[in-house]
Amino acid sequence: MNLLAIESSCDETSAAIMVNGELRSNIVSTQLIHTQWGGVVPELASRAHQKSIIPVVSEALQKANINKNELNAIAFTRGPGLLGALLIGTSFAKALALSLDIPLIEVNHMEAHVLAHFIEDPKPRFPFLCLTVSGGHTQLVWVKSPLEMEVIGETQDDAVGEAFDKTAKLIGLPYPGGPMIDKLAREGNPNRFPFPLGEMPGLDFSFSGIKTSILYFLQKEQKNNPQFIEENKADICASVQKTLIDMLLRKVKKAMKEKNCQQIAIAGGVAANSGLRNGIQELGAQQNWEVLIPAFSYCTDNAGMIAMAGHFKAEAGIFCGQDVSPLPRMAM
Ligand code: KG4
Ligand code: ZN
Repeated sequence: MNLLAIESSCDETSAAIMVNGELRSNIVSTQLIHTQWGGVVPELASRAHQKSIIPVVSEALQKANINKNELNAIAFTRGPGLLGALLIGTSFAKALALSLDIPLIEVNHMEAHVLAHFIEDPKPRFPFLCLTVSGGHTQLVWVKSPLEMEVIGETQDDAVGEAFDKTAKLIGLPYPGGPMIDKLAREGNPNRFPFPLGEMPGLDFSFSGIKTSILYFLQKEQKNNPQFIEENKADICASVQKTLIDMLLRKVKKAMKEKNCQQIAIAGGVAANSGLRNGIQELGAQQNWEVLIPAFSYCTDNAGMIAMAGHFKAEAGIFCGQDVSPLPRMAM
């Protein structure tokens, strides 16, 4: 089974080839155009996907040493994501599938983040809990099988990735700020500036309050010392990062207890954060959990994870028709 997978939900154009469940290539083209605007501009994202999709797919085929006529199916991200961006990947997948007369597989981007864990060893055993943290989502997912997932907790407002990116913007770091905060935090004191953790009932999260606390804190300090941000950048990053991670880990602990679970996985772009990776390892060691952390390249958006999710669907005989269209708010 030679599977082509396409990802175009946000600002990465990506294509992957999977052969019988084994990833052979995973090409990711990150759109740099958005940096100058301080965030993803949907219209520009669509145009950049349009421009990159053919070269990216060609490179994925070439690297895997597969001819397009040897493809057996095409998986693509149907949602959630930006409509214009999803339309490029969806239309491309439909057109190619039509011309090759092969079936299509629609994939939910958030399910694919979770299933990225099955690309490489060690793989989780079902059921397990996954904390999925990205630029648009923050979810606690109870994963019963590759095709059965239940969101047992999620953010009621901003995603944790947004909290990273917006904080970065406040302190003058370029978009996407998450990786920059991670880097600066390594040299800072995480206990220097305490921020409130907030209180959300159950297993849900809220990150809009912390964002406002950071804004007010910075405004107050800058009034006393206009150089405050410049002089304390590393400590601010370390303190904000620690607060966001504490908020995540508190709910992870609660969910693991409720589910009486021993395996915790992390997924999504923010799972690339070194503080979160270390924090969950430490908590796991304390609690005697098995902690599953994917390689960096499978945390941020990539078509390898779409291929993995597509592979599970193909195995179960689940395909979709040519009448499929993108779902920007696709639920799990
Ligand atoms: O999963 P992803 O690539 O795209 C979405 O589906 O949203 O996640 C992107 C998010 C951005 O908010 C980015 O700042 C964040 O992941 N991110 C990080 C790190 N690497 C990416 N946040 C904190 N630390 C990082 N090292
Ligand atoms: Zn994503």
